[in-house]
Amino acid sequence: MRCSLRTTTAVVLLLGACRAPSNSQTRALAIEPTVPPRQSVTFPDGWRFKAGEKAAFGEHFMIASNQGLASDAGSEVIRAGGNAVDAAVAVGFALAVVYPVAGNIGGGGFMVIRLADGRSATIDYREVAPRAASRNMYLDASGNPTDESIIGYRASGVPGAVAGMAEALSKYGTMSLAQVMAPAIRMARDGFVVDSSLHLGLRSSFGYIGKFDARDIFYNNGEALAPGTVFRQPALARTLQLIAEQGPKAFYRGEVGDSLVAAMTRGGGIITKQDLELYQPLWRTPIKSTYRGYSMFSMPPASSGGIVVTQSLNILEAAADTLPAWGTAAYAHLLGSAFQRAFIDRNSKLGDPAFVNVPLDQLTSKGYARTLAKTIDPNHKTPTPPNGSQIVDGMHTTHYSVVDDQGNAVATTTTLNNGYGSAVYLKNVGFFMNDEMDDFASAPGKPNMFGLVQGEANAIAPGKRMLSAMSPTIVLDPKGELFLVVGGAGGPRIITATSQVILNVIDNRMSLADAMRAPRLHHQALPDTLMVETNGLTSEAEAGLKRIGHAVRYLSGLANVNAVMRVKGGWEGVSEPRVGGTGGTSSR
Ligand code: DON
Repeated sequence: MRCSLRTTTAVVLLLGACRAPSNSQTRALAIEPTVPPRQSVTFPDGWRFKAGEKAAFGEHFMIASNQGLASDAGSEVIRAGGNAVDAAVAVGFALAVVYPVAGNIGGGGFMVIRLADGRSATIDYREVAPRAASRNMYLDASGNPTDESIIGYRASGVPGAVAGMAEALSKYGTMSLAQVMAPAIRMARDGFVVDSSLHLGLRSSFGYIGKFDARDIFYNNGEALAPGTVFRQPALARTLQLIAEQGPKAFYRGEVGDSLVAAMTRGGGIITKQDLELYQPLWRTPIKSTYRGYSMFSMPPASSGGIVVTQSLNILEAAADTLPAWGTAAYAHLLGSAFQRAFIDRNSKLGDPAFVNVPLDQLTSKGYARTLAKTIDPNHKTPTPPNGSQIVDGMHTTHYSVVDDQGNAVATTTTLNNGYGSAVYLKNVGFFMNDEMDDFASAPGKPNMFGLVQGEANAIAPGKRMLSAMSPTIVLDPKGELFLVVGGAGGPRIITATSQVILNVIDNRMSLADAMRAPRLHHQALPDTLMVETNGLTSEAEAGLKRIGHAVRYLSGLANVNAVMRVKGGWEGVSEPRVGGTGGTSSR
């Protein structure tokens, strides 16, 4: 299925990249890059990846996701004449089958679309709080958050994935749901071969999902499905078939929804039939911004992603015409300080725009960025007030980037929140439910699962969308040609990792392979630490950062990104090297 793969991909192929068949209606890309040539980079000694690796290459189209079989589902649809939106929806449903840790129909997501004819759109299919949700529903008698926003039946928002993908398809796709869902249905019904990534993910999650009905489906006597075995999901196949035949109403008003509500009622959850009936995906105006002459299309709230990526890049653009050399303390300090400032605003001001007044224009303005850039002292870090916020590792959302043979592009990020969501698996209908309620500030001022300390703007209310960090982004080069499709997983680190891949290809002129392999850093205001990847700094840079006053903390991996970039003669795609072969391992 895959072709032209010029990358060394260990154990599991995570990416599908194929030429369209010669008889398909393709427009070979006459466009050549108008961007400067790439430059080589030297990574710090001891860094886990080598610089100079090759990316996958496709002359006509490219799909990068966390699971090769899901990317292949998209390729199949494009080869049959579909466009990038058809393919993205095919990938989304396929991920629900072959990448159950994050791919889903029991969760939600965001999609950014940019068509070759210049139109752009975003669709928000984020979960919403059920009508019976209330501000303090996750607080114990002493006012401390319980784990009910994370695990179990009460942790779920009303899923948006099915409605959102179907709506995107009906507006911008060219095929029927049945056509684009065919690969997913086939893989659920006939099975697919379990890879090491799924096996290891399940093995490490037994203590979590083994508490619920997934125990009987994904484990044999407590042993995770073995790599190499064929895994069939008849209940999920039936659910997908019903959706393919009846449309989203099968999920929101029909048999699937009835089963979901019955399970919720049995387990003490609060999602009702009416919650499902009321669910609506929302088309939103994309955030359009610029960075050093490039244009970006990104996601407005209910995700914070577009605002915070835009604001961070605006601050960097205002701070320096040329960024300090990549890998130096000065570079890391400047990036960390820009992210810190953007997250301070994010954490206090952003929430569902139907409930709070989001100052989007101000936060994304160049003038405001100039004001913030002036507050960065090159020699001293600015403290954020301390608290006990903890950071939890995790990369279990999933992003996929699709570019078709016409130059249409789709960036989609979808999630159950935690790996395997709330751990609640609906065995009659074959899918995991999300634990997206934890993305609200259950207790404003106290950290959530990702250590994010957020305010009233993101407090729980019935029917409200919880604030997200998902950052699907499409970048055009200075001539207005499609350049980069990018996004990732990893909670708040999605924002900083997505920004850094953009900076790496624009400012640092890295190849996409290097841009993805380069060590990442992260700052989210609170906790007030500059997080960096283990061995991701030279000793000189580390010493410099400490002199500037940063509390440097090392983490094993920051985020999980999948990206596509235009190069001479076609497209390069890189799937996250940090999860290659072990993607699915959850360590929170
Ligand atoms: O929407 C969000 O920002 C989160 N629910 C994303 C969660 C995520 O990336 C999981 N991985 N750590």
